[in-house]
Amino acid sequence: MARDSIVILTGAGISAESGVPTFRAADGLWEGHRVEDVATPQAFARNPDLVQGFYDARRAALAAVVPNAAHHALARLEREWDGGFLLVTQNVDDLHDRAGSRALVHMHGELLKAWCTGCDARHAWQGDLRCMPRCPTCGAANLRPDIVWFGEMPYAMDTIETALHQCSLFISIGTSGAVYPAAGFVEIARWAGARTVELNLDPSATSSRFHESRLGRATDLVPAFVDELLA
Ligand code: APR
Repeated sequence: MARDSIVILTGAGISAESGVPTFRAADGLWEGHRVEDVATPQAFARNPDLVQGFYDARRAALAAVVPNAAHHALARLEREWDGGFLLVTQNVDDLHDRAGSRALVHMHGELLKAWCTGCDARHAWQGDLRCMPRCPTCGAANLRPDIVWFGEMPYAMDTIETALHQCSLFISIGTSGAVYPAAGFVEIARWAGARTVELNLDPSATSSRFHESRLGRATDLVPAFVDELLA
């Protein structure tokens, strides 16, 4: 018999133990950079070199990190769960992909893709964009990181909202609940009648909205919770 539908939201905390910096910690990315300088369309128009350089460095750093036990546990859950399943990540790293997750939506884009604003093509991309390489499709030098910046619309919102309205379990992992629309997913899931569980190192801005909040490291909490679900 098919089991219930699960939607999982992940944030930077799930990749922290792999060595990818989070955003809002004391040593986080937004402590060293102003959002307005590197993560808005206006910043890119003003200083494309600075913005491309910020994302080039983050893209290059991915080569040195690997998925951790939490990423692997979610890939196992997807493989072994016989109900509906959608993993929504705010992360732009590829650690869920490398762990084997396939029912996966990168709502804030992907570091390893470049988007041509001239012809709208998207390309897998490993190298730097600061050198303004030409788009393999149209030949123009209009490539930018395929990242959803502040003020832009997250990807796949229709798919995500449909899954949230149908889910019976919503799990939020490693996100501070500071950025919408992701921070509001718990409300949609509750409205749909789902059980809601948060797994996070610290209480988040939305902790009180969850039925249950477990505090700890993702590499401890996520494999243990997946074991419970599959038991
Ligand atoms: N295990 C579990 N949770 C952790 C761990 C860990 N090892 N380390 C940190 N955390 C938690 C922190 O307690 C924090 O609540 O992860 C959360 C990370 O929060 P943020 O840095 O705000 O990252 P995130 O919530 O993913 O940010 C959302 O903001 O800047 C934008 O687009 C960016 O996608 C990002 C969005």
